[in-house]
Amino acid sequence: MCGIVGYIGRKSAQNIILSGLNKLEYRGYDSAGIAVKCGEEIIERKFKGRLSVLEGFLCDNPVHGNIGIGHTRWATHGAPSDENAHPHSSTDYSISVVHNGIIENYVQIKEELTSLGYVFRSQTDTEVAAHLIHHYYEGDLLDAFIKAVGKLKGAYALVAISEKEEKIVCVRKDSPLIIGLGENESFVASDIPAVLEYTRDVYLMDDNVFAELTHDGVSLCDENKHPVQNEVYHVTWDAQDATKGGYEHFMLKEIFEQPTSVRNTLRGRLDKIGDKVTLDDFRLTKEDFNKISKVYIVACGTAYYAGCIGKYLIEKYARKTVETDVASEFRYKDPIIDENTLFIAISQSGETADTLAGLRYAKKMGAKVLSITNVVGSSVARESENVLYTWAGPEIAVASTKAFSTQIIAMYLLAIKFGLYSGNLSEEKADELIDSIYMLDKNIETVLGKIGEIEGIAHMFESIKDAFFIGRGVDHYLSMEGSLKMKEISYIHAEAYQAGELKHGPIALLEEGSVVVCTLTYGGELCDKVMSNLKEVKARGAKVVLIAEEGNEDNDGVSDVIISLPKAHEDMNILPAAVVLQLLAYYSAVNRGCDVDKPRNLAKSVTVE
Ligand code: AGP
Repeated sequence: MCGIVGYIGRKSAQNIILSGLNKLEYRGYDSAGIAVKCGEEIIERKFKGRLSVLEGFLCDNPVHGNIGIGHTRWATHGAPSDENAHPHSSTDYSISVVHNGIIENYVQIKEELTSLGYVFRSQTDTEVAAHLIHHYYEGDLLDAFIKAVGKLKGAYALVAISEKEEKIVCVRKDSPLIIGLGENESFVASDIPAVLEYTRDVYLMDDNVFAELTHDGVSLCDENKHPVQNEVYHVTWDAQDATKGGYEHFMLKEIFEQPTSVRNTLRGRLDKIGDKVTLDDFRLTKEDFNKISKVYIVACGTAYYAGCIGKYLIEKYARKTVETDVASEFRYKDPIIDENTLFIAISQSGETADTLAGLRYAKKMGAKVLSITNVVGSSVARESENVLYTWAGPEIAVASTKAFSTQIIAMYLLAIKFGLYSGNLSEEKADELIDSIYMLDKNIETVLGKIGEIEGIAHMFESIKDAFFIGRGVDHYLSMEGSLKMKEISYIHAEAYQAGELKHGPIALLEEGSVVVCTLTYGGELCDKVMSNLKEVKARGAKVVLIAEEGNEDNDGVSDVIISLPKAHEDMNILPAAVVLQLLAYYSAVNRGCDVDKPRNLAKSVTVE
């Protein structure tokens, strides 16, 4: 939700922090700031608005020093403003901090500090940390930092500097933080892309481990200052993966990366011989699975819709009951869950607070846990006994695209594995599915080839206020994802309905010129029923965009435009259809002049509940 970068070394801290913050702007972008130790004082500069506002100022008024911290913010406590932007400093500016997360007991701490004479400049929860460290400071920043952190409740990645010491100290709890290990320089950041230009060796920080970064290197300890060991993780993916690479937006680049991402997710995992589905970090045996009475899939947003598609696939091929829930609801509804439940968490970032809390709840209730995530070493991955990495590569755009398609691939893999475990999927049928899954990358490429056509169709959305996404069966889940994509980046009010449900109320919203997007990834009887639903829509004067498999296209003239999907095996047009929906949303947003990669009010990784 917020981006943190810190630097200690011999170079200009300002330049390194700004370049790192640029890579992290997807994490928050309503204000940005920097604090640099310049000789015996800390200079703090922070502004409401995009990082470019801060950059513009610093370009004319640079701050010189080689120790510093910086931040891009996504507001939680206090509106976006210069005062609420990070860093936050003690009254005398001797201590400066940046923070990601929420300090739950900040009101109580603020009252205590106020009674001691501390004066607050912002409405944020973070500011208490700066004053608290100042309060405990007796000449050793790490000592004061550990004492202050001991008072905090909530989730935090917290980084601090002092005007009196040549060091940076930091800690994390339920909020991502990594440390970059360079030659004669060290970095701290919310995510790897921020440091990749300078080093590939990083520590993926564990909760409650304190780090001290000095000119001599990095040392780690617990709250009693006992040394802690951490393995160095060597990053193998390329910095280029986290840049736009010639595309106008990260979102478009990531849409076009999908054939590659899908191939990466499948690599070494699917084979017609042997076990057919080979998953590393996966300990769930056939016996374990067959003892399970229910699968529960929990996630947020796009990942949740991937989970809904997973429900469809697992129930169909493994005949096991699957419940799905959005993570923010799951743990508060006293879910029926025990040691015979398989709990699956899906999260691109692996840091989504609600998903993580759901996972912890499920573990506490005794469930077996499997996480599907894209980020190695993320909190969700670290807390799960079984992990299925999606290997989509870094996803920067707020709107999730390649993460979604690779999550769907994970769902196919599980549906086949569980189908074979349960005995409901024959070897022959599994082989058929495997063959058709291996054609998915090509079919996605075919759809990507229709970019010009889809760009033209997106003009239909240029001046509308409402859009409707309909489908039946698994296509309803796709409609939900299509509708989310449309609303989050183009700000068009979009709703998804089961096609057959329209006539029970929502059809009243349709009028001359309304746009209805219908997804139809299969043929057969249900296809005819969808066509009847489209006639009802058409009769109300709505314009129909039909996304349908070749051969199942409209032959009654009910569609205004048709985007055809390649002929594919049963259930294999889910991903090509998702790509069409992504491109429709993308071009609608571009045509309306929206900031595609950084939609208003949103952040890539939502690390608060
Ligand atoms: C989708 O485009 C959004 N960015 C959002 O719904 C996202 O999928 C959700 O916040 C979950 O994130 P996660 O996969 O990192 O947990």
